[in-house]
Amino acid sequence: MKALFFEDLKGKVAVMTGGTGVIGRSAAQALAAAGVRLALAGRDSRRAEAIAGEIASQTGGQLIGLGLNVLDRSSLEEARRVVHERWGPVQLLINGAGGNRPGATAQDERMTGADPSERGRSFFGLDLGAFDEVFRLNVMGTVLPTQVFAQDMVGTGGVVVNLSSMASLRPLTKVAAYAASKAAVNNLTQWLSVHLAPQKIRVNALAPGFFLTEQNRFLLTDEKTGEPTARTRKILAATPLGRLGEVDELQGALLFLLSDLSRFVTGTVVAVDGGFSAYSGV
Ligand SMILES: NC(=O)c1ccc[n+]([C@@H]2O[C@H](COP(=O)([O-])OP(=O)(O)OC[C@H]3O[C@@H](n4cnc5c(N)ncnc54)[C@H](O)[C@@H]3O)[C@@H](O)[C@H]2O)c1
Repeated sequence: MKALFFEDLKGKVAVMTGGTGVIGRSAAQALAAAGVRLALAGRDSRRAEAIAGEIASQTGGQLIGLGLNVLDRSSLEEARRVVHERWGPVQLLINGAGGNRPGATAQDERMTGADPSERGRSFFGLDLGAFDEVFRLNVMGTVLPTQVFAQDMVGTGGVVVNLSSMASLRPLTKVAAYAASKAAVNNLTQWLSVHLAPQKIRVNALAPGFFLTEQNRFLLTDEKTGEPTARTRKILAATPLGRLGEVDELQGALLFLLSDLSRFVTGTVVAVDGGFSAYSGV
């Protein structure tokens, strides 16, 4: 019987974009604890270095912090050079950078009226510049780092995990560009998994649902009472497990997808959403 733990991750060299974000930080703790040598990358190099240092001292793990732009090939190439100099070829890639923009978000959930004064609140009022930015960040921000870092895996094998979203499986109201761009990430994940399988490179995606974090606490709960807001009550009613997630609850699925425990798993999108995407509401 092969290993039933994450032992094979020990000493592997990983790059994670979005490492300075809410999910990235939690993922980095899990990776460091599993003995992965991690280049934690974010937009801001000082923040990345600070977080990497903090996690290294908490866990005794090997981490470096790097600043890069997932939409700029030269900054990605430079990061790859730094990782090579320090540890050698990249074996694991987590494409965690991603996000949304307010201008690409409709203000109304549904377009109920035909009054021209309300049109701006609907799909017709979306800012196409912001729409394009969301697509570039989520889609090209996955394509480019994969082109740069997964080159190292050709011939020797490796693993790529893309951060998608539950909104890719079930588009959420308002976030038009975000949901569509994450659906593109899922499709790209499948495409890459087929294309790169002969090289023993596995490609999967994680689709997180709703997580309560310090950043969104004010949106999801009433500031004064701490009670769920109206939108949160809708989310909870549509979540079979009946609660919001905690960011650390993504760690297990991520370690699984990166390790040999999932060695026959490629081209999948793993939802970590308390069952939200499985429930039709009836
Ligand atoms: N937080 C959630 O509840 C949630 C739910 C579903 C999916 N996701 C997805 O998970 C991923 C991480 O989310 P998060 O909430 O931790 O993000 P976050 O907003 O907390 O952080 C974003 C991260 O992306 C990096 N980033 C943004 N633009 C970049 C660029 N051009 N180049 C390099 N790095 C860049 C930032 O430096 C930061 O590290 C994203 O893809 C997000 O869409 C998050």
